[in-house]
Amino acid sequence: MLIKEIKELKNLVKSWKKEGFSIGFVPTMGALHEGHQSLIKKAVEENDKVIVSVFVNPTQFGPNEDYDSYPRDIKKDLELCMMVGANVVFNPEPNEMYFNNRSTSISVSKLTSVLCGAKRPGHFDGVCLVVSKLLNIVTPDKAYFGQKDAQQVAVIKRMVRDLNIDVDIIACPIIREEDGLAKSSRNTYLSVEERKAASVLSRSLNIAKNLLNKGERSASKIKEIMMEEINKEPLAKIDYVEIVDNESLENVEIIEKNILIPIAVYIGKTRLIDNFIFEIYTY
Ligand code: PAJ
Repeated sequence: MLIKEIKELKNLVKSWKKEGFSIGFVPTMGALHEGHQSLIKKAVEENDKVIVSVFVNPTQFGPNEDYDSYPRDIKKDLELCMMVGANVVFNPEPNEMYFNNRSTSISVSKLTSVLCGAKRPGHFDGVCLVVSKLLNIVTPDKAYFGQKDAQQVAVIKRMVRDLNIDVDIIACPIIREEDGLAKSSRNTYLSVEERKAASVLSRSLNIAKNLLNKGERSASKIKEIMMEEINKEPLAKIDYVEIVDNESLENVEIIEKNILIPIAVYIGKTRLIDNFIFEIYTY
């Protein structure tokens, strides 16, 4: 079922809650692929009812970013959601979500001043604003996010904790193409040549994984080898390659606990992100 109005969705949620149904929620910006569908499938497994939002959120795009050209196809998205068992697709217009004279902002400090936050000023304020609004509208028991956007997961978890929002945030694994490229709505921007070149992101992360498995613990050594690999690819331009603490996102030099290796690389004009979590088990 497609719902475009907040009021209609709230009424439906109210009636479901009266009947005691648990609610899972998957926020998206559409142009759905198997990555999004994996979140929906998990939500369907773990909840009685599942709501997917499809909303290209204007407040999280910078002035020179791809808000206008971001791929939109609600008919296909609706089909892809229903195929994996979602009950409702919530697809509001921008003027349904945002008042012209809105004056509230949500800013999660520290975690957003690094990595993508440093490169995309205001981006996470926009993400936090829309996600907090959606959580208020849907009031789900559980909300599902992809580990593909690792910083987004860390920021949303912090916001939900700090604001005492009553929801479990569930992080789901990255779904990849056969050659390792993380699935992304933005992969459609790549030319055939660029698409081939894009496999360098996951390749460099695999190199890091092998080094870590062999016992390498110097972050700068691992970063250097990763950057060497990426720089071999003529169509790739590194935005960042970092090794950080998975929760605080602070830089780590000697690796002795769980870390996140997030990378952002331009392939031609398209900026792609990927990451890998390395867990150190202490017995
Ligand atoms: P969007 O980019 O559409 O992604 C929606 C969700 O799908 C995010 O949680 C993202 O991490 C997840 N996802 C995307 N590609 C994935 C992949 N290859 N494997 C696993 N999960 C994947 O992220 C957003 O939208 C927006 O910022 C949003 C949270 C909806 C707020 O507007």
